Amino acid sequence: MKVDDVKKICVVGAGNMGHQISLLCAIHGYKTTCTDIVPEVLKKAENFADTYLPGRVKKGKMTEEQAKQARANVSFTGNLADAAKDADYVIEAVIEVVPVKRKIFAELDKLAPAHAILATNSSAIVSSSIADATKRPSQVVNLHFFNPALVMKLVEVVKGPHVSDETAQVSMDLCTKLDKVPILLKKEVDGFVVNRILGALTREALWLQEMGVASAEDIDKAMVYGAGHPMGPFRLMDLIGIDLQFTLDIERFKKTGDPATLPYPSVVERYTKGQYGQKTGKGWFDYSEK
Ligand SMILES: NC(=O)c1ccc[n+]([C@@H]2O[C@H](COP(=O)([O-])OP(=O)(O)OC[C@H]3O[C@@H](n4cnc5c(N)ncnc54)[C@H](O)[C@@H]3O)[C@@H](O)[C@H]2O)c1
Repeated sequence: MKVDDVKKICVVGAGNMGHQISLLCAIHGYKTTCTDIVPEVLKKAENFADTYLPGRVKKGKMTEEQAKQARANVSFTGNLADAAKDADYVIEAVIEVVPVKRKIFAELDKLAPAHAILATNSSAIVSSSIADATKRPSQVVNLHFFNPALVMKLVEVVKGPHVSDETAQVSMDLCTKLDKVPILLKKEVDGFVVNRILGALTREALWLQEMGVASAEDIDKAMVYGAGHPMGPFRLMDLIGIDLQFTLDIERFKKTGDPATLPYPSVVERYTKGQYGQKTGKGWFDYSEK
């Protein structure tokens, strides 16, 4: 398969990442189906498409015709079979839990055409932990977008040992067609490139905060005004989701057995209180007025 053979994309999961990935694909001319098991999440994703596209037109970033075409390209359904049945490329963006992803890949293997590539947007789970749930492991790959997916340019494509050259190439080329900047990881590694580096930075920021060296706000200021980062680690945690941060730390601990990789107490505290960041209105900072 070549990238030009990809006409239809299916996005599984319409949450934080999935709703934007599906709209991104639609804007770039792909017939896209977006699916989720929670009807309210699907409705929210659809509402987002209905407000985002006119907003782009208003800002002069898109013509009315382009917005109309993009909206016509994307559809939302709760039915996975319908969403996947004639997809050439599937992007899974459901919760970061290996058994859930494996189950979905096993279903997708039965539902999607034999030539379809099945990609996971996981932040840290390597596709070799999922690929053997299918009968097409050479077509199972990591395609890691960043949040917000409509804005952030980078996509990490991870070529695990089971991934064919063709799958990796089509995935890289697809990212370029989506106006992204893909990088190829030639080996699987937990956390990939960005999250390994960010993870080290976040842990250091949490340590400084918990030791009382500086407040979360001031540490963020330090990284924005001293290191030129667009946002500090605490605001980034709120954007990514403290629930995801917690899950990533737990998964890392399960793999390494190293207590140093356990979530920091301040993360556990917010996680147990349901303070996940922007999506719940409170995390490290308060978003209740927005
Ligand atoms: N949040 C981020 O900043 C970010 C960045 C890059 C990658 N990721 C990765 O993207 C994936 C999704 O993360 P998110 O932040 O969008 O999560 P989220 O919790 O916002 O959304 C996940 C969605 O998956 C849906 N879902 C669960 N089980 C399903 C099933 N069986 N079929 C269909 N839908 C199902 C849920 O209803 C939910 O809407 C994760 O693997 C995560 O690691 C997240």
